[in-house]
Amino acid sequence: MNILLLGSGGRECAIAWKLRQSPLCSDLYIAPGNAGTAQYGTNLALSLTDFDAIKRTCLEKNIHILFPGGEDTLVAGIYDYFTHDPELEHIIIPGPSKAGAQLEGSKAFAKQFMQRHNIPTAAYAEFDEKSFESGLAYLRQHSLPVVLKADGLAAGKGVIIAQTTEEATNAFKSMIKDAQFGDAGKKVVIEEFLTGIELSVFVLTDGDNYVRLPEAKDYKRIGEGDTGLNTGGMGAISPVPFADAGFMQKVTDQIIDPTIKGLKEENITYDGFIFFGLINVNGDPFVIEYNCRMGDPETEVVMPRLDSDLVMLIVKMGQGKLDEVTAQHSTKAAGTVMLVSEGYPGTYPKGKVMSGLDQAKGSLLFHAGTTQKDNDVLTNGGRVLAITSYGDNIRDALEQSYQNAEKIQYEGKYYRKDIGYEFF
Ligand code: AMP
Ligand code: GLY
Repeated sequence: MNILLLGSGGRECAIAWKLRQSPLCSDLYIAPGNAGTAQYGTNLALSLTDFDAIKRTCLEKNIHILFPGGEDTLVAGIYDYFTHDPELEHIIIPGPSKAGAQLEGSKAFAKQFMQRHNIPTAAYAEFDEKSFESGLAYLRQHSLPVVLKADGLAAGKGVIIAQTTEEATNAFKSMIKDAQFGDAGKKVVIEEFLTGIELSVFVLTDGDNYVRLPEAKDYKRIGEGDTGLNTGGMGAISPVPFADAGFMQKVTDQIIDPTIKGLKEENITYDGFIFFGLINVNGDPFVIEYNCRMGDPETEVVMPRLDSDLVMLIVKMGQGKLDEVTAQHSTKAAGTVMLVSEGYPGTYPKGKVMSGLDQAKGSLLFHAGTTQKDNDVLTNGGRVLAITSYGDNIRDALEQSYQNAEKIQYEGKYYRKDIGYEFF
C-alpha cells in the first residue's frame, strides 16, 4: 500500500518509522516531513490544508492511505472532502469526519457531548459575547483556581488556569472582547480545576469497534518540576505506573465505551484515533480534553511500544473489522526526552548544525524540528529531536535517552532532566 503521511514533527517521524516496518507498506511519502522522516520515505512539499494539492498528490502517487498527523487537516474537513469525491473515496483516512473532529475543534462541543453521555469531566459553563455579563458573574462566584478555555483550536495555547478572580476576569475579557485567540476564543468554556496526575489514552476506532494503544504521560512545561511556560511537550513515558488494570477498566467503562457509543448514537462518522486527555482524581479518571489525532510527544513512546502492525490496524479500521484484531503492547517500557532550541517556547534560533547523531547508540531518534542541508542536519524548530529508548522500566529507558541526549550537540541545546520524576 502507498501511504501519504501529513506533518513534520516528532509524532510524524515516529509514525513514519512504524509504518515503514510494515510488510504492507510500499511507497511512503511524508509531507512536508523533516530530516528524520526522509530515512523512512520520500518527503514532499505540501500545505496541510490545501486539499486540492493533497488530492493531486494522492492521485499522482496512487495513494491508498492518507494519514493526517495533526488536527488542522482533520478539523478543516479532509475526511469529508475525500469521501465525497469519487476519485478519492477508496482512500483510507485514519481520522474522523469534520463533525467527529469537533471533539477537538470545539471545547464547547466536547463538553456538551460528555454531558449528553454521562462521561466524567470537570463541571463547566460556556459563554460568548451575548452572555458576557453572566460570564463575569459566574467567574465572581467560582472557586479558585478556575480554568478558562477558548472554544476553538488555539495551538495548545487557549487554556488559562487563573489563580485569582481578577486574573480570570481579565483573561475572560481578552478572549471575548479583544479576540485574543481570534475566532477560536469568541466562545469560552469556564470549568472547575481538577487536581491529579494526567495521562493520555489512545484508541483507534472504526466507529463500532476499537483497539486501545499503549497509554502514555507527557510533560508539557518547559521547566523541571513542571514549572514555567507550556510547550508542545518536553518528554513522555509509557506505560504510566498508576494506570493499572483496575484504573484502565474504569477508563474503558466510564470513558472509552460511552464515547464510541455516543458518537455512533449521534451518527457522527468517526474512524480514526481518539486521544483521551485524562486526569486521575483520587483513583477516578476524568476527561480534560479529547483530541482527534495522536499526541506529540506521546506518539514517540506509543509507537515503539505498539507491537502490532500499524498498517494492518489501519486497513482493518477501513474495513470496519477492528473486532478481528487486538493491539499488542510491548512489555518493555519506553521513555522519550525532547531536545529543544534555546529560547523555546518563546522565540528561538534555527539553522544550528547538529552533531553526534551517529554516536547516539541504543535509542531511536525521532526528528521533530530538523532539516537536511547538504551533508548537515540543522535545527529547524523549537522542539528539535525526541530521543526514545526502551528499558525494563521507565527509569532504565530514560537513563539511556539521557546518555544520548548528552552526545548530541548543537548550539543552545536544552532539555528537561527530570522526565518521569514523580514516579521515582
Ligand atoms: P487542554 O488544552 O484542554 O489539554 O488543556 C491544557 C492543559 O491545561 C491540560 O493538559 C491540563 O494540564 C490543564 N487543564 C485543562 N483543564 C483542566 C482542568 N479542568 N483542571 C486542571 N487542569 C486542567
Ligand atoms: N501532548 C499533547 C498533545 O499532543 O496535544
